Amino acid sequence: MKFNTIQIKDKKLILLDQTVLPEKVVYNSYSDYRDVIPAIQRLEVRGAPAIGISAAYALCLAVEVEVKTTVEGLKKIMQDVAGIIKNARPTAVNLAWAVDRVLEKTDMYTGDSLDEYRQIFWDEADAIFTEDKAMCDSMGKYGAELLKDGMTVLTHCNAGALATGGIGTALAVFYKAKEMGKSIKVFADETRPLLQGARLTTWELMQEDIDVTLITDNMAGYSMALGKIDAVITGADRITKNGDVANKIGTYSVAVLAKEHGIPFYVAAPESTYDKILESGNDIIVEERAPEEVTEGFGNRTAPDGVKVFSPAFDITPHELVTAYITDTGVRPGGRQA
Ligand code: MRU
Repeated sequence: MKFNTIQIKDKKLILLDQTVLPEKVVYNSYSDYRDVIPAIQRLEVRGAPAIGISAAYALCLAVEVEVKTTVEGLKKIMQDVAGIIKNARPTAVNLAWAVDRVLEKTDMYTGDSLDEYRQIFWDEADAIFTEDKAMCDSMGKYGAELLKDGMTVLTHCNAGALATGGIGTALAVFYKAKEMGKSIKVFADETRPLLQGARLTTWELMQEDIDVTLITDNMAGYSMALGKIDAVITGADRITKNGDVANKIGTYSVAVLAKEHGIPFYVAAPESTYDKILESGNDIIVEERAPEEVTEGFGNRTAPDGVKVFSPAFDITPHELVTAYITDTGVRPGGRQA
Protein backbone atom coordinates (compact mmCIF):
# COMPACT_ATOMS: atom_id res chain seq x y z
CA MET A 1 0.00 0.00 0.00
CA LYS A 2 1.16 3.54 -0.68
CA PHE A 3 -0.10 4.77 2.69
CA ASN A 4 -0.09 3.64 6.33
CA THR A 5 -3.41 3.65 8.15
CA ILE A 6 -1.84 2.93 11.55
CA GLN A 7 1.81 3.22 12.57
CA ILE A 8 3.75 3.05 15.81
CA LYS A 9 6.83 5.25 16.18
CA ASP A 10 8.69 5.89 19.45
CA LYS A 11 5.73 4.64 21.47
CA LYS A 12 3.40 7.04 19.68
CA LEU A 13 0.31 6.06 17.67
CA ILE A 14 0.26 7.66 14.21
CA LEU A 15 -3.08 7.68 12.39
CA LEU A 16 -3.86 8.65 8.81
CA ASP A 17 -6.64 11.22 9.26
CA GLN A 18 -9.52 9.75 7.24
CA THR A 19 -11.76 12.76 7.83
CA VAL A 20 -9.79 14.87 5.34
CA LEU A 21 -9.23 12.24 2.62
CA PRO A 22 -9.15 12.34 -0.36
CA GLU A 23 -8.31 16.06 -0.40
CA LYS A 24 -5.40 15.88 2.03
CA VAL A 25 -3.11 13.14 3.29
CA VAL A 26 -2.45 14.06 6.93
CA TYR A 27 -0.89 11.91 9.65
CA ASN A 28 -1.66 12.75 13.30
CA SER A 29 0.49 11.56 16.19
CA TYR A 30 -0.98 10.49 19.55
CA SER A 31 0.77 10.01 22.88
CA ASP A 32 -2.30 10.35 25.16
CA TYR A 33 -5.04 7.70 25.06
CA ARG A 34 -7.63 10.37 25.93
CA ASP A 35 -7.05 11.93 22.51
CA VAL A 36 -7.38 8.58 20.70
CA ILE A 37 -10.99 8.14 21.89
CA PRO A 38 -12.33 11.27 20.12
CA ALA A 39 -10.21 10.36 17.07
CA ILE A 40 -12.08 7.03 16.92
CA GLN A 41 -15.42 8.79 17.48
CA ARG A 42 -14.94 11.36 14.71
CA LEU A 43 -13.81 8.53 12.35
CA GLU A 44 -10.25 9.75 11.92
CA VAL A 45 -9.55 6.04 12.19
CA ARG A 46 -12.50 3.82 11.32
CA GLY A 47 -13.43 0.34 10.16
CA ALA A 48 -13.84 -2.50 12.64
CA PRO A 49 -10.33 -4.04 12.64
CA ALA A 50 -8.59 -0.63 12.53
CA ILE A 51 -10.46 0.68 15.56
CA GLY A 52 -9.68 -2.56 17.40
CA ILE A 53 -5.95 -2.13 16.74
CA SER A 54 -6.06 1.59 17.66
CA ALA A 55 -7.92 0.79 20.88
CA ALA A 56 -5.26 -1.79 21.80
CA TYR A 57 -2.55 0.85 21.29
CA ALA A 58 -4.61 3.40 23.24
CA LEU A 59 -4.25 1.04 26.23
CA CYS A 60 -0.48 1.00 25.64
CA LEU A 61 -0.36 4.81 25.72
CA ALA A 62 -2.40 4.80 28.93
CA VAL A 63 -0.17 2.32 30.75
CA GLU A 64 2.90 4.46 30.00
CA VAL A 65 1.61 7.36 32.11
CA GLU A 66 3.88 7.78 35.14
CA VAL A 67 2.05 6.77 38.32
CA LYS A 68 3.47 6.14 41.76
CA THR A 69 1.97 2.72 42.25
CA THR A 70 2.63 -1.02 42.09
CA VAL A 71 1.75 -3.45 39.31
CA GLU A 72 -1.42 -4.41 41.23
CA GLY A 73 -2.37 -0.73 41.56
CA LEU A 74 -1.77 -0.11 37.87
CA LYS A 75 -3.86 -3.17 36.97
CA LYS A 76 -6.85 -1.57 38.70
CA ILE A 77 -6.29 1.74 36.90
CA MET A 78 -6.08 -0.09 33.56
CA GLN A 79 -9.43 -1.81 34.20
CA ASP A 80 -11.07 1.63 34.38
CA VAL A 81 -9.21 2.93 31.34
CA ALA A 82 -10.23 -0.18 29.35
CA GLY A 83 -13.89 0.48 30.19
CA ILE A 84 -13.60 4.06 28.89
CA ILE A 85 -11.89 2.99 25.64
CA LYS A 86 -14.44 0.21 25.01
CA ASN A 87 -17.23 2.79 25.10
CA ALA A 88 -15.78 4.85 22.25
CA ARG A 89 -18.06 3.23 19.64
CA PRO A 90 -20.54 0.44 20.41
CA THR A 91 -21.17 -1.55 17.23
CA ALA A 92 -17.86 -2.98 15.95
CA VAL A 93 -17.05 -5.96 18.16
CA ASN A 94 -13.33 -5.70 17.31
CA LEU A 95 -12.92 -2.71 19.63
CA ALA A 96 -14.02 -4.45 22.83
CA TRP A 97 -12.45 -7.71 21.63
CA ALA A 98 -9.01 -6.11 21.24
CA VAL A 99 -9.17 -4.25 24.57
CA ASP A 100 -10.29 -7.42 26.42
CA ARG A 101 -7.57 -9.47 24.76
CA VAL A 102 -4.81 -7.08 25.85
CA LEU A 103 -6.22 -6.82 29.35
CA GLU A 104 -6.58 -10.60 29.78
CA LYS A 105 -2.96 -11.10 28.72
CA THR A 106 -1.56 -8.34 30.94
CA ASP A 107 -3.65 -9.46 33.94
CA MET A 108 -1.85 -12.80 33.81
CA TYR A 109 1.44 -11.09 34.75
CA THR A 110 2.35 -12.06 38.32
CA GLY A 111 5.68 -10.22 38.69
CA ASP A 112 6.28 -6.82 40.25
CA SER A 113 8.21 -5.02 37.52
CA LEU A 114 6.26 -2.09 36.08
CA ASP A 115 8.50 -2.14 32.99
CA GLU A 116 7.79 -5.81 32.30
CA TYR A 117 4.07 -5.29 32.90
CA ARG A 118 3.99 -2.30 30.51
CA GLN A 119 5.88 -4.21 27.82
CA ILE A 120 3.19 -6.93 27.71
CA PHE A 121 0.68 -4.29 26.56
CA TRP A 122 2.88 -3.33 23.60
CA ASP A 123 3.64 -6.95 22.71
CA GLU A 124 -0.03 -7.93 22.71
CA ALA A 125 -1.12 -4.87 20.70
CA ASP A 126 1.67 -5.62 18.18
CA ALA A 127 0.44 -9.22 17.99
CA ILE A 128 -3.12 -8.06 17.23
CA PHE A 129 -1.78 -5.73 14.51
CA THR A 130 0.43 -8.42 12.94
CA GLU A 131 -2.28 -11.07 13.06
CA ASP A 132 -4.75 -8.70 11.41
CA LYS A 133 -2.36 -8.21 8.49
CA ALA A 134 -2.11 -11.98 8.00
CA MET A 135 -5.90 -12.42 8.29
CA CYS A 136 -6.45 -9.81 5.56
CA ASP A 137 -4.09 -11.66 3.19
CA SER A 138 -5.79 -14.93 3.91
CA MET A 139 -9.33 -13.55 3.44
CA GLY A 140 -8.23 -11.90 0.23
CA LYS A 141 -6.98 -15.23 -1.18
CA TYR A 142 -10.10 -17.18 -0.24
CA GLY A 143 -12.35 -14.45 -1.62
CA ALA A 144 -10.41 -14.05 -4.86
CA GLU A 145 -10.94 -17.73 -5.63
CA LEU A 146 -14.70 -17.07 -5.70
CA LEU A 147 -14.37 -14.44 -8.43
CA LYS A 148 -14.11 -15.14 -12.13
CA ASP A 149 -11.99 -13.10 -14.51
CA GLY A 150 -13.95 -10.13 -15.89
CA MET A 151 -16.48 -9.83 -13.04
CA THR A 152 -17.78 -6.51 -11.72
CA VAL A 153 -18.30 -6.42 -7.95
CA LEU A 154 -20.23 -3.86 -5.93
CA THR A 155 -18.91 -2.85 -2.51
CA HIS A 156 -20.34 -0.59 0.19
CA CYS A 157 -18.52 1.74 2.62
CA ASN A 158 -14.77 1.12 2.94
CA ALA A 159 -13.54 -2.29 3.99
CA GLY A 160 -10.01 -1.85 2.71
CA ALA A 161 -6.52 -1.10 3.94
CA LEU A 162 -7.95 2.09 5.44
CA ALA A 163 -10.21 -0.01 7.68
CA THR A 164 -7.73 -2.66 8.85
CA GLY A 165 -4.12 -3.30 9.81
CA GLY A 166 -3.49 -4.99 6.45
CA ILE A 167 -4.91 -4.88 2.91
CA GLY A 168 -8.54 -4.94 4.01
CA THR A 169 -11.37 -7.44 4.10
CA ALA A 170 -13.70 -6.89 1.11
CA LEU A 171 -11.07 -4.90 -0.81
CA ALA A 172 -8.39 -7.52 -0.03
CA VAL A 173 -10.35 -9.80 -2.35
CA PHE A 174 -9.82 -7.36 -5.25
CA TYR A 175 -6.10 -6.95 -4.50
CA LYS A 176 -5.55 -10.70 -4.37
CA ALA A 177 -7.66 -11.30 -7.51
CA LYS A 178 -5.41 -8.81 -9.31
CA GLU A 179 -2.31 -10.69 -8.08
CA MET A 180 -3.87 -13.89 -9.47
CA GLY A 181 -4.15 -12.20 -12.87
CA LYS A 182 -7.94 -11.79 -12.76
CA SER A 183 -9.36 -8.58 -14.18
CA ILE A 184 -12.00 -7.36 -11.70
CA LYS A 185 -13.96 -4.14 -11.91
CA VAL A 186 -15.43 -2.53 -8.80
CA PHE A 187 -18.54 -0.39 -8.32
CA ALA A 188 -18.28 1.64 -5.10
CA ASP A 189 -21.41 2.90 -3.36
CA GLU A 190 -20.97 6.50 -2.24
CA THR A 191 -22.17 5.52 1.28
CA ARG A 192 -24.20 8.38 2.69
CA PRO A 193 -23.93 10.23 4.97
CA LEU A 194 -20.16 10.23 5.56
CA LEU A 195 -19.15 9.06 2.07
CA GLN A 196 -16.65 6.36 3.02
CA GLY A 197 -17.24 4.84 -0.43
CA ALA A 198 -16.77 8.05 -2.39
CA ARG A 199 -13.95 9.54 -0.33
CA LEU A 200 -12.05 6.45 0.83
CA THR A 201 -12.79 3.34 -1.27
CA THR A 202 -12.33 5.07 -4.62
CA TRP A 203 -9.15 6.80 -3.38
CA GLU A 204 -7.71 3.57 -2.04
CA LEU A 205 -8.55 1.49 -5.14
CA MET A 206 -7.28 4.16 -7.52
CA GLN A 207 -3.94 4.22 -5.66
CA GLU A 208 -3.67 0.50 -6.35
CA ASP A 209 -4.80 0.75 -9.99
CA ILE A 210 -8.04 -1.17 -9.50
CA ASP A 211 -10.77 -0.21 -11.99
CA VAL A 212 -13.40 1.53 -9.84
CA THR A 213 -16.66 3.29 -10.73
CA LEU A 214 -18.43 5.49 -8.19
CA ILE A 215 -22.24 5.42 -7.85
CA THR A 216 -24.53 7.08 -5.33
CA ASP A 217 -26.30 4.65 -2.99
CA ASN A 218 -29.62 4.94 -4.82
CA MET A 219 -28.02 3.84 -8.11
CA ALA A 220 -27.21 0.32 -6.88
CA GLY A 221 -30.59 -1.22 -7.78
CA TYR A 222 -30.64 0.15 -11.32
CA SER A 223 -27.00 -0.88 -11.85
CA MET A 224 -28.02 -4.43 -10.90
CA ALA A 225 -31.12 -4.32 -13.10
CA LEU A 226 -28.93 -3.27 -16.04
CA GLY A 227 -26.77 -6.37 -15.46
CA LYS A 228 -23.72 -4.35 -14.50
CA ILE A 229 -23.06 -6.15 -11.19
CA ASP A 230 -22.01 -9.82 -10.86
CA ALA A 231 -21.50 -10.00 -7.08
CA VAL A 232 -21.52 -7.88 -3.92
CA ILE A 233 -18.78 -8.00 -1.27
CA THR A 234 -18.95 -5.95 1.93
CA GLY A 235 -17.13 -5.98 5.25
CA ALA A 236 -18.73 -6.38 8.68
CA ASP A 237 -18.57 -4.71 12.08
CA ARG A 238 -20.03 -7.64 14.00
CA ILE A 239 -21.35 -11.06 13.05
CA THR A 240 -23.56 -12.75 15.63
CA LYS A 241 -23.77 -16.48 16.39
CA ASN A 242 -26.63 -16.99 13.91
CA GLY A 243 -24.72 -15.20 11.11
CA ASP A 244 -26.53 -11.84 11.17
CA VAL A 245 -24.24 -9.01 10.06
CA ALA A 246 -23.91 -5.46 11.35
CA ASN A 247 -22.24 -3.26 8.75
CA LYS A 248 -22.39 0.31 7.47
CA ILE A 249 -25.89 1.71 7.03
CA GLY A 250 -27.12 0.80 3.55
CA THR A 251 -25.64 -2.71 3.53
CA TYR A 252 -29.03 -4.28 4.26
CA SER A 253 -30.61 -2.49 1.27
CA VAL A 254 -27.84 -3.78 -0.99
CA ALA A 255 -28.33 -7.34 0.32
CA VAL A 256 -32.07 -7.18 -0.44
CA LEU A 257 -31.36 -5.83 -3.92
CA ALA A 258 -28.78 -8.56 -4.53
CA LYS A 259 -31.35 -11.24 -3.65
CA GLU A 260 -33.97 -9.68 -5.93
CA HIS A 261 -31.50 -9.73 -8.83
CA GLY A 262 -30.06 -13.20 -8.13
CA ILE A 263 -26.60 -11.76 -7.41
CA PRO A 264 -24.40 -13.40 -4.71
CA PHE A 265 -23.92 -11.33 -1.55
CA TYR A 266 -20.64 -12.04 0.27
CA VAL A 267 -19.45 -10.72 3.64
CA ALA A 268 -15.68 -10.64 4.23
CA ALA A 269 -14.61 -10.52 7.88
CA PRO A 270 -11.84 -11.89 10.10
CA GLU A 271 -12.29 -14.06 13.19
CA SER A 272 -12.10 -10.93 15.40
CA THR A 273 -15.41 -9.69 13.94
CA TYR A 274 -17.33 -12.79 15.08
CA ASP A 275 -19.24 -12.14 18.29
CA LYS A 276 -19.02 -15.26 20.47
CA ILE A 277 -21.81 -14.11 22.82
CA LEU A 278 -24.67 -12.36 21.01
CA GLU A 279 -27.18 -14.73 19.42
CA SER A 280 -28.65 -12.55 16.69
CA GLY A 281 -28.60 -9.13 15.08
CA ASN A 282 -31.51 -8.05 17.31
CA ASP A 283 -29.05 -7.96 20.23
CA ILE A 284 -26.56 -5.60 18.56
CA ILE A 285 -26.33 -2.00 19.75
CA VAL A 286 -26.41 0.17 16.64
CA GLU A 287 -24.58 3.47 17.02
CA GLU A 288 -26.59 6.59 16.22
CA ARG A 289 -24.67 9.59 14.95
CA ALA A 290 -25.17 13.35 15.15
CA PRO A 291 -27.99 14.74 12.97
CA GLU A 292 -25.60 17.29 11.48
CA GLU A 293 -23.84 14.48 9.61
CA VAL A 294 -27.06 14.13 7.59
CA THR A 295 -28.18 17.76 7.38
CA GLU A 296 -24.82 19.45 6.79
CA GLY A 297 -22.31 16.63 6.47
CA PHE A 298 -19.56 18.40 4.59
CA GLY A 299 -20.36 22.04 5.26
CA ASN A 300 -23.36 22.78 3.06
CA ARG A 301 -26.74 22.63 4.75
CA THR A 302 -28.97 20.28 2.73
CA ALA A 303 -32.05 20.16 4.97
CA PRO A 304 -34.12 22.77 6.84
CA ASP A 305 -32.88 23.97 10.20
CA GLY A 306 -34.55 21.99 13.01
CA VAL A 307 -35.73 19.03 10.88
CA LYS A 308 -35.98 15.70 12.75
CA VAL A 309 -33.28 13.21 11.76
CA PHE A 310 -32.77 9.48 12.32
CA SER A 311 -29.13 8.54 11.72
CA PRO A 312 -28.12 4.96 12.54
CA ALA A 313 -24.49 4.39 11.51
CA PHE A 314 -25.04 0.67 10.82
CA ASP A 315 -27.78 -1.74 9.88
CA ILE A 316 -28.33 -5.46 10.32
CA THR A 317 -28.35 -7.83 7.38
CA PRO A 318 -30.10 -11.07 8.36
CA HIS A 319 -28.11 -14.25 7.67
CA GLU A 320 -30.82 -15.38 5.21
CA LEU A 321 -29.54 -12.72 2.80
CA VAL A 322 -25.86 -13.73 2.96
CA THR A 323 -24.62 -16.13 0.27
CA ALA A 324 -21.30 -16.83 2.02
CA TYR A 325 -18.84 -15.46 4.59
CA ILE A 326 -15.27 -14.97 3.43
CA THR A 327 -13.13 -15.50 6.54
CA ASP A 328 -9.41 -15.88 7.18
CA THR A 329 -9.91 -19.62 7.64
CA GLY A 330 -12.01 -20.24 4.54
CA VAL A 331 -15.40 -19.58 2.94
CA ARG A 332 -18.45 -20.53 5.01
CA PRO A 333 -21.90 -20.84 3.45
CA GLY A 334 -24.54 -18.28 4.43
CA GLY A 335 -28.29 -18.66 4.57
CA ARG A 336 -29.02 -17.72 0.95
CA GLN A 337 -28.18 -20.44 -1.51
CA ALA A 338 -29.61 -19.26 -4.81
O1 MRU B 1 -18.40 3.97 10.50
P1 MRU B 1 -17.25 3.22 9.88
O2 MRU B 1 -16.63 3.92 8.74
O3 MRU B 1 -16.26 2.78 10.93
O4 MRU B 1 -17.92 1.88 9.31
C1 MRU B 1 -17.08 0.93 8.73
C2 MRU B 1 -17.80 -0.21 8.13
O5 MRU B 1 -19.00 -0.33 8.22
C3 MRU B 1 -16.97 -1.27 7.47
O6 MRU B 1 -17.65 -1.84 6.41
C4 MRU B 1 -16.64 -2.36 8.51
O7 MRU B 1 -16.09 -1.82 9.65
C5 MRU B 1 -15.72 -3.38 7.96
S1 MRU B 1 -14.08 -2.76 7.79
C6 MRU B 1 -13.08 -3.99 7.28
